[in-house]
This record gives sequence, structure tokens and C-alpha cells, in this order.
Amino acid sequence: MPKQRHNILILNGPNLNMLGSREPEIYGIQTLTDIANDCEEYAGELGFTIDFRQSNSEGELVTFIQQARGAFSGLVINAGAYTHTSVAIHDAIKILEIPVIEVHLSNPQAREAFRHHSYISPVAKGTICGFGGHGYILALNALRSLLDDEG
Ligand code: DQA
Repeated sequence: MPKQRHNILILNGPNLNMLGSREPEIYGIQTLTDIANDCEEYAGELGFTIDFRQSNSEGELVTFIQQARGAFSGLVINAGAYTHTSVAIHDAIKILEIPVIEVHLSNPQAREAFRHHSYISPVAKGTICGFGGHGYILALNALRSLLDDEG
């Protein structure tokens, strides 16, 4: 039986538009456009349509999350530095009634202490970190099986 098609929102927070030239020893050499293209291709194989967005603004990310209600079946979010500071993004995700996967290119737990706390983790279904851009693909796979389980 063909899998049900779903719309998935992929959100990226501040400074992720600088990937490729931003601390490549930590974040790798892939640009955000490379990651978006990989997600687009893989999403097609999974039967997903994706909307891949980036914003440097906390308020805009909150608005995107609010607008996801009713429009998307799942959210993948790399909130960048807002992961460690944003009660507003935490609250917006709490209102959403769709599965949320938190992604980080690096492994924040292996870095500075200020990166060890996440406001996203308590409101996410799960977190994928430390696998570079491949983490987004892993997150799409996780959403595929979660949404299949929901039926
Ligand atoms: C990040 C980790 C955050 O601590 C950092 O502020 C980022 C990127 C990651 O993808 O590894 O901007 O979310």
C-alpha cells in the first residue's frame, strides 16, 4: 500500500545560513542549501513534501511554528543558539500537536557547558545530534515511522 503523503516543516535558527563557512571543523562543509537539497531528495523517497526554512529571528521562528498548526504533520527543528535560551520557542512547540524532532549538527553535550541545556528537548519527541547534515535525514526517517505508527 502506498504510504500516506505528509507535509513536513524543517526549521533552522540563527547562523545556520552561514554553514559551509561557519566553523567548518565543528559544523562541516555542507551549506544549508546542500542540506535542503538532500532533504528534498530524501523526502520524495519517503513520500513527504517538505518546507525548509531558516530565520535569524526568534519571533519569526515562533510565528512559523504557530502557522504549522493544521498545515504540517511533523516538524524538524534545529533552533541553533535559541535551543539554549528560548522559552518562547519552547512554548510555541508545546502548543503544536504534531511530532517534533530536534536536530543539531554538532553534539552540544560534548561542547561548552552553556550548550548542555536545551529548551527544545523537553517538548520534542526526540533529539538527533552529532551527525552533521545527515541528522536531518535521520529525523525525516524518524518522522516517517512515527507517522506510520499513528496510522
Ligand atoms: C547547533 C548547536 C548550537 O549550540 C549552536 O548555537 C548552533 C548550531 C548545531 O546544529 O550543532 O547554532 O544547533
